[in-house]
Amino acid sequence: MYKPLEIAKNIFYVGVNDRTKPLFENLWPLPYGVSYNAYLVVDKQTALIDTVDLCYSDVFFQKITSVLGNRPIDYLIVNHMEPDHSGSIAWLVSKYPEIRIVGNKRTLDMLKGFYGITRNVVLIQDLEELHLGECTLQFYLTPMVHWPETMMTYVPEKKTLFSADAFGAFGALDGGVLDTQLTPGRYRDEMIRYYSNIVGKFGSPVQTALNKLSGIDIDAICSTHGPVWTQKTQVAEVFNLYDQLSRYEADPGLVIAYGSMYGHTEQLAEIIASSAAEHGLKKIVMHNVSKSHESDILRDVFAYKGLLIGSPTYNNKLYPGVESLLSGLQNRYMKNRFFGCFGSFTWSDASAKQLAAFAEASEFEMIADPVIMKQAMLSEVVEKARNLGQCMARKLLSGVEVVPNNSANCH
Ligand SMILES: Cc1cc2nc3c(=O)[nH]c(=O)nc-3n(C[C@H](O)[C@H](O)[C@H](O)COP(=O)(O)O)c2cc1C
Ligand SMILES: [Fe+2]
Ligand SMILES: [Fe+2]
Repeated sequence: MYKPLEIAKNIFYVGVNDRTKPLFENLWPLPYGVSYNAYLVVDKQTALIDTVDLCYSDVFFQKITSVLGNRPIDYLIVNHMEPDHSGSIAWLVSKYPEIRIVGNKRTLDMLKGFYGITRNVVLIQDLEELHLGECTLQFYLTPMVHWPETMMTYVPEKKTLFSADAFGAFGALDGGVLDTQLTPGRYRDEMIRYYSNIVGKFGSPVQTALNKLSGIDIDAICSTHGPVWTQKTQVAEVFNLYDQLSRYEADPGLVIAYGSMYGHTEQLAEIIASSAAEHGLKKIVMHNVSKSHESDILRDVFAYKGLLIGSPTYNNKLYPGVESLLSGLQNRYMKNRFFGCFGSFTWSDASAKQLAAFAEASEFEMIADPVIMKQAMLSEVVEKARNLGQCMARKLLSGVEVVPNNSANCH
């Protein structure tokens, strides 16, 4: 039924699209679906690189058969054991009982733990090679990109990197698989969202992995999610994006995230945003934490260098949605941001103080005093809010364009 999909000579795509699951990890929305990519290298010997989510095993096996017919699979290379990629291993072994399963020590421990598989396993060390015939598989251990066992597989003869979750994107593959067959720009936001939601905590291991890969020549990146990157400009772009995100560098734009029950904190957010816009800043994204999904807020905070957070005081604490956002950011070691905060209260302020403490713990650069509103929007509060928006615009735009001297009271 399936036509073999040869993405490069002797390399076949055998992955699947999931447009059914509403949430990845039962947590992160999938408005455009997601793909679980797997690949077959067909040489004197054959190697399957990763499997797919158990729900899609049937389609996966049909695709493998369309390429191999009755030919056996000699090796399964397990780059990553998370169930979205390892889910079909047990079934694969029952269909191909002689298949040899290749992984590092941690992979093999997990293989035993998850699926009770200990037979026909091949333990490899970092940088070890496996020869299939014309093609060589070189294994690069890249722990914590995204799990401890994660590794990548490089085929030097094809200059192709099978990168596991790295360089992955949400979004099913609508028609094409290669970047040359689809509109790559469509996947950029979904790549940032994937990075920030799934890999965001592991900036330092990603940097280690990128350094490790820096010596090799890469013409194509085959990730486990999203398009296969083959165009020179695209390969460079996704590499640069990963480098930028994992160093917590960001574009000069602003995220304003706030919680609000009765609109007071929201009014502050509006005043701050329009002041920032008045002072020349165009890239502004506002999120009401009760309405926006944290997945999208995290994406934008990773993408933009400016961050303003507002919260009412709620039972002497932060508003719950804001608290949850802060915990998501702390969990991802978010750093290197221009920061400001604002809050409102009725009898005893706690929110602005806690936001300021969060900024200090995260070593953010506080760009102006917190703006605090008690009960009503007095003119001096409006002035402070306008000042905060102006300071943020100045901070983000200096270095990008000439910022006129003015009377802003910034740190
Ligand atoms: C459930 C609840 C708990 C609150 N707890 C506090 C509090 O501990 N301290 C305080 O000063 N104000 C408290 N307030 C008052 C709000 O912080 C204040 O009205 C604030 O301006 C609301 O902002 P908003 O209009 O953006 O929701 C509470 C309000 C509610 C509804
Ligand atoms: Fe993963
Ligand atoms: Fe994955």
